[in-house]
Amino acid sequence: MAFVDVVVMAAGKGTRMKSSMPKVLHRLGGRALLQHVIDTASQVQARRVVVITGHGAEEVEATLSDNDKVQCVRQMPQLGTGHAMQQAVPVLADDGITLVLSGDVPLIQADTLNALLALCDGQHLALLTLQTPKPAGYGRLVRNPQGQVQAIVEEKDATPEQRQIQEIYSGIMAVPTRLLRAWLARLDNHNAQKEYYLTDVVKFAVADACQVQAHCITDAWQVEGVNNPVQLAELECAYQHHQALRFMEQGVRLRDPARFDLRGQLECAQDVEIDVNCIFEGQVRLGEGVKIGANCVIANCIIEAGAVIHPFTHIDGEQLGVTVGEGARVGPFARLRPGADLGADVHIGNFVEVKNSTLAKGAKANHLAYLGDATVGERVNYGAGSITANYDGVNKHRTVIEADVHVGSNSVLVAPVTIGAGGTIGGGSTITKDTPAGALTVARAKQTSIANWQRPVKTKK
Ligand code: UD1
Ligand code: CA
Repeated sequence: MAFVDVVVMAAGKGTRMKSSMPKVLHRLGGRALLQHVIDTASQVQARRVVVITGHGAEEVEATLSDNDKVQCVRQMPQLGTGHAMQQAVPVLADDGITLVLSGDVPLIQADTLNALLALCDGQHLALLTLQTPKPAGYGRLVRNPQGQVQAIVEEKDATPEQRQIQEIYSGIMAVPTRLLRAWLARLDNHNAQKEYYLTDVVKFAVADACQVQAHCITDAWQVEGVNNPVQLAELECAYQHHQALRFMEQGVRLRDPARFDLRGQLECAQDVEIDVNCIFEGQVRLGEGVKIGANCVIANCIIEAGAVIHPFTHIDGEQLGVTVGEGARVGPFARLRPGADLGADVHIGNFVEVKNSTLAKGAKANHLAYLGDATVGERVNYGAGSITANYDGVNKHRTVIEADVHVGSNSVLVAPVTIGAGGTIGGGSTITKDTPAGALTVARAKQTSIANWQRPVKTKK
């Protein structure tokens, strides 16, 4: 098959979003609308991707700068979709097929585009169309009595009869670049909107006896654009529904597919169960048999086989990542921050925060505690209310708690400090020096009792 060069139109204004951010940078499923389109372009093996920018060009271009397959071309001012394409063709080679996509139509699927490219077959003009009961606002497909496509007529230029047509142009086409280049040179703006219409190439194709093929679909969500916050939310919903189905088809048990949100990449092994209202962000991997309770936010982490995350847990590994080991139990109401690395069978209970710390097999922190910059040995039991004081206001220091240590409730371990293996820290201690292995260390303020102290009496007014 011929080379495919994708052109993404993204110069339009999008005033109805009522936002200072360019429309195509609004997010859907955790990615910019434009990024969805670029990712789909790479799935159809595009040789190159040209993005036409205009409104908010600098901001849009900045988001694309690290992708060397993508080239931006500016359209200033914006005189219509045909004018937009006129800015792009100078950078396209004649041996390719141009696949025209729209930066604000994020859910177009690679399969659909491949079918369109197959229809184009390197020689025809192929249009993606939609059969819809609600054609208002779109360009209509005008066919002759033999059913051959004759033209696309914009709503504003259409006769009342043409407005009845329920087959609309999606804004997506595949066309041999060599033909497109010649047709674009013939465009004018003699129409209701005084714009250069890309859709006028259909008339030229017909006049030049080039076959015009329409690939008509009925999945409206694939070609729906985002023009306002309502449409953005509707497409988000369609996208999430699609993701939920995909996971359930792989055997993931979602308690309710309507209450599942994926804003990144999720990989699930067998027998994963996910309760309602969970959000997955960034890169997340769930091992075999993992169970995620209701109302968890889980980002950038690996949860190994058999681990259970109880409700209302927040995990975000950001750049460093988080690992939850095999059979570990986390939550409810736990918080795992970047660099939390929990070994097998670790237990993290309610209101426990772990940051940049390694917990070896079987270690437990069951209630109300903070572990930051700590190395925790096997089977350590870290009591309620205990914290590592890891920050002296300037530098962060490590706390090492060796295997089999018991840290009594409400202790403060002032880093840098090492608690020797098998030792016990008496509850309420403030530990500032290393403690010997196997020892009981108690470091509390002295308790004072005043024998003849009398409770103050409330005075009458
Ligand atoms: C266009 C089609 C219409 C089709 C509809 C599908 C034309 C003339 N009409 O309508 O048949 O049913 O898409 O959504 O093509 N853009 C630019 N520069 C411009 C104008 C637009 O880059 O000067 C971009 C927009 O950012 C957007 C896309 O082109 O991504 C489509 O523009 P939009 O105004 O939404 O489409 P319509 O002209 O309404
Ligand atoms: Ca328009």
